[in-house]
Amino acid sequence: MAVLSDKIICVFGGTGFVGRYIVQALARAGYRIKVVTRHAEKAYFLRTYGVVGQVVPFEADYTHEADLAEALRGAYAVVNCLGVLYETSKQKFNDIHNHVPELIARHAVKEGVQKFVHISALACERGQSRYAQTKHSGEEAVAREFSGAVILRPSVIFGSEDEFFNKFAGMTSFMPFLPLIGGGQTRFQPVYVEDVAQAAARAVIEDDMEGIYELAGPETMTFEEIYKRIFAYVGKSRPLLTAPWALAKMKAAFLGMLPHPLLTTDQVESLKTDNVTSGAEKTFTDIGISPTAVDLIVPAYLSRFRAGGRFGDKKKAAA
Ligand SMILES: NC(=O)c1ccc[n+]([C@@H]2O[C@H](COP(=O)([O-])OP(=O)(O)OC[C@H]3O[C@@H](n4cnc5c(N)ncnc54)[C@H](OP(=O)(O)O)[C@@H]3O)[C@@H](O)[C@H]2O)c1
Repeated sequence: MAVLSDKIICVFGGTGFVGRYIVQALARAGYRIKVVTRHAEKAYFLRTYGVVGQVVPFEADYTHEADLAEALRGAYAVVNCLGVLYETSKQKFNDIHNHVPELIARHAVKEGVQKFVHISALACERGQSRYAQTKHSGEEAVAREFSGAVILRPSVIFGSEDEFFNKFAGMTSFMPFLPLIGGGQTRFQPVYVEDVAQAAARAVIEDDMEGIYELAGPETMTFEEIYKRIFAYVGKSRPLLTAPWALAKMKAAFLGMLPHPLLTTDQVESLKTDNVTSGAEKTFTDIGISPTAVDLIVPAYLSRFRAGGRFGDKKKAAA
C-alpha cells in the first residue's frame, strides 16, 4: 500500500463491475476515495479495499445538482463509471449515459476538480444502437464541459463478475441450442477488467493523458469464436443456430420485457457494429499497458459451469 495521499477521488459507479476494480487500483495508489452511489450500503464492501476511512461511500441522487456539487467538493479527480445495458420505465439511456455525465462534468469544473476520467464504450461513435448513441453523446457532453477530460472506450470487458462470458457460459447449462445472432460474425476484442482499471488509475496518477483511448484486448474474436472458446472452457457444447437479424429482434422484443432481460432489441442492434478499435485513436500502447489474454483469466472463473467444477475433466464434463 502506498503512503496515503491528501487527494480525494470521486468515483461514480464504483459499486459496479468495472468501478470496484478502479476503486481498488486507486486505493492501492494511496488516494482517498469517495464512492458516489444511489445507495450507500451497496458501497460498504469497498471500504475493505483501503485502510480505515480511505474509501467512503457518499449517497447521492445523480439528478439532484446540489448532491453532485456536495459530492464533488474538495475532489482532485472524478472517475465516472455509470452505465446501464438496457432501459426500463425508470432507467433511461440518455439520462445515465449523457445527461448525468454532463451534470457531473459541469459541477466538477465549478468545484475546481482537476481531472475527469469517463468510461465510455468502444465503437460508440459508429454504433446505431441507443446504447451506443447515448454513450457517444455522453462523451461529447463531458469533453465539452470539462476540457482535457480522458475518455476510455473499452471493448466488452471480462473478469470474474462480468455479465458476458458468465451469461453465455450459464446459457450452456439450460439452453438446448445457442443463437448466432445475425450469423455470429460480429467481432470483439475482449479486454480484462484489471487492464481497464489500470488505464483509469493511470489517467488519475499521470499528467500525460488526454482525449480518447480505445481499450481492446490482444485478440479479435467473432461471437461464434467466443461461444466456441466458452465451450472449451466449460467442457460442454451446444448446437449454434443462426438467428437472422429480423428473427433475433422479434425474439428480443419478448425477452426485453423481462425484469432482467436476457436480450433486448437494442442489444441486437448493437451487434450489427464490430466492437473493435478504429485505428484512429490512442490505445493501451500509448499508456504502456500490455493487455491480458482471455485464455489467462476466463477459464478459472468459468470453472463453476463445468461438471465437476475446476477439477472436472473435459470428458467427464461433456458426459
Ligand atoms: N461491462 C462491460 O463489458 C462494458 C463494456 C464497455 C463499456 N462499459 C462501460 O463501463 C462502465 C461501467 O460498466 P459496468 O459493467 O461496471 O456497469 P454496471 O456494473 O452495470 O453499473 C455501473 C454503475 O451504474 C450505476 N447504475 C446502475 N443502474 C443505474 C440507474 N438506473 N441509474 C443510475 N445509475 C445506475 C450503478 O451505481 P450505483 O448503484 O452505485 O448508483 C452501478 O454501480 C459503463 O459506463 C459501461 O457503459 C462496460
